[in-house]
Amino acid sequence: MGMNPFELKPKNIEETYVDIKNLSSKPYNKNSTDPYTKLRVILANGAEFEQVWFGHQLSRRTSDNELRRQVAAIRRSEQQQQKRISSLKPINESILEHTIGYEMLAVDLTIALAKHEENEVVQKALNFALLEDFDHLYRYANLLEEDKGIKAEKLVGKYVEIMPGRPTISEHRHPHDDIRNHITDKDSLLTKLNVGIITAAEQQTMNYYMNNAIFYDNEMGRKLYSEIAMIEEQHVTQYGGLMNTKTTWLECLLMHEYTECYLYYSNYETETDERIKALWEELFEQEVAHLHKAANLLQEYDNKQWEQIIPDGTFPELLKLTPDKEYLRGVIKDSVYLTADKEDYIEAKRLGEDSDFYKFQQIFIKKDADVPSHKVIKNHIAQKGEDYRYQKGEHPTDELNDRKEDNTSVGRITGISDKNND
Ligand SMILES: [Fe+2]
Ligand SMILES: [Fe+2]
Ligand SMILES: [Fe+2]
Ligand SMILES: [Fe+2]
Repeated sequence: MGMNPFELKPKNIEETYVDIKNLSSKPYNKNSTDPYTKLRVILANGAEFEQVWFGHQLSRRTSDNELRRQVAAIRRSEQQQQKRISSLKPINESILEHTIGYEMLAVDLTIALAKHEENEVVQKALNFALLEDFDHLYRYANLLEEDKGIKAEKLVGKYVEIMPGRPTISEHRHPHDDIRNHITDKDSLLTKLNVGIITAAEQQTMNYYMNNAIFYDNEMGRKLYSEIAMIEEQHVTQYGGLMNTKTTWLECLLMHEYTECYLYYSNYETETDERIKALWEELFEQEVAHLHKAANLLQEYDNKQWEQIIPDGTFPELLKLTPDKEYLRGVIKDSVYLTADKEDYIEAKRLGEDSDFYKFQQIFIKKDADVPSHKVIKNHIAQKGEDYRYQKGEHPTDELNDRKEDNTSVGRITGISDKNND
């Protein structure tokens, strides 16, 4: 029998509050902790950010003070959870090392969700952005070796390969090409969870880069963060665009709490670090309290039962991060040349000069040589004779196999790079 959090007996909200001494957690050891434990920490932190901001937006969209008090009470608990999770990151883990975790999460989480996704629109969106975050991982890994002499394979625990995906230079699309068709209440519970989870994760990455770009200790790094932050804006637009637009604020609150329950329970079931596993369990119990509270508010203010939103509260198959290098190689083979064209995907070389993609690339990229994600690789090659990679065998795409020259044409319109030749 699966777990149904609606069937558990909830604590009341005040019972979920901790005292100030317990607001921070003992950090993990960055050298001995499994990379997937670090990824779960990043993901849970992102889910709490989303939840806190959603709560604020809800509160600003209603004039009922009693409802606003109830939502503030839940939100206080979410804020405490976020502090306990984010303080797990140790002081000696740099922003850039942590960033490797962000992009690794974007890769392995996306694979985990895409593999079991039944909605074709959602699955295509996942596979599409997957190759872009995979490329970000490679660019940051080169910066890491260049600046700090650290090989990123140590940080990713050899779970993922590090090599070019769709080159970041090719990812700069017109904003019109990031909108996707949204899901509906007919979609499966797993699809709804997947969309909520990936949106929170990508949004967390976007926020992280928005805040941290300027703290990097050299210009090259600051510019690389800023460039990649622009792509995360595109990813958040894509994923946020998949969300069901036909729900009320309180239905949405219920779904948010349910998603948090599902995430913490998945974390609890898959965690290998005993101490952190106990934290996931405790936070799961708190989420059950939030969920029941949200169900009560839905009944009181919308006059709806939770079963009308989530007919079967039993968790679908849990989220499990596992290495899958072959899946990724398959997606590279199938789709590295694609760009987006409104809601669809198309090989970039099939687009003409009248396309939005071409238009935006012309506005944004005056010279390939100025693009930080390209420069970071050129610098690395100039310094060490080749780029940094952690690769098991040849790259699946011939054009991306050359370690002595950074490719700027895959997934792009050839005319642009010819015109703006560096
Ligand atoms: Fe939470
Ligand atoms: Fe990324
Ligand atoms: Fe992303
Ligand atoms: Fe919650």
